[in-house]
Amino acid sequence: MSHDDPNRRNGTARINPSILAADFVNMQAELARIHTADFVHVDVMDNHFVPNLTFGPQMVERIQATSPVPLDVHLMIADPDRWAPGYAELGAASVTFHLEAATEPVALARRLRAIGARAGVAVKPATPVDGLFDLLDDFDQILVMTVEPGFGGQSFMPETMPKLRRLADEARRRGSQIWLQVDGGIGESTIAQAAEAGADTFVAGSAVFAVGDPDAAIAGLRAAAAAHRH
Ligand code: DX5
Ligand code: ZN
Repeated sequence: MSHDDPNRRNGTARINPSILAADFVNMQAELARIHTADFVHVDVMDNHFVPNLTFGPQMVERIQATSPVPLDVHLMIADPDRWAPGYAELGAASVTFHLEAATEPVALARRLRAIGARAGVAVKPATPVDGLFDLLDDFDQILVMTVEPGFGGQSFMPETMPKLRRLADEARRRGSQIWLQVDGGIGESTIAQAAEAGADTFVAGSAVFAVGDPDAAIAGLRAAAAAHRH
């Protein structure tokens, strides 16, 4: 694919550090370390949809009040139809729920947008994306999980790249401006293949927080992604 596609021409790679890899009892200081990020990625887990538990709206509201950058909330929870609008109402810039968990994904996306958030839908590694082709106008971003959701520090799954590429090609063919996000195992050695497959928004937990200089890590990831654009 050429580099001068109109959908991507002005787009730089967005880097969204995941605070799942941060020190939870020093959250304010951790958020200050990533002030050059595009968004802070906030992983909400309920121990039902995924076998892990993080936090809920009360904590996210405090992160929203404290963060130097807008919030990109990733809901790994059951029954997002019930809970997702609350995260938009507290001011999150984007709210992404899992397609596998939602009862009425399009109606839910409309509610999120009506509140003022970007509406996102996420798919686990084994979930096909073809059903999303006709929904590109209903969402602002699609998250293709590149690990099984639930834990940070897992290995990137390259077998998710063909469906990301098909999604990116379909979005381009339809003239869609939708953002395509990847999450899980993204770092200096894997970001290029995700960018080449069509991702423009990159979540990175351990690759940003488990290093001495998060801003340098963010800059390195952004440059690597930009050099390998779809
Ligand atoms: C996993 C979460 C990710 C996680 C990524 O279920 O959705 O956001 O924090 O962590 P890394 O980048 O360490 O794989
Ligand atoms: Zn996530």
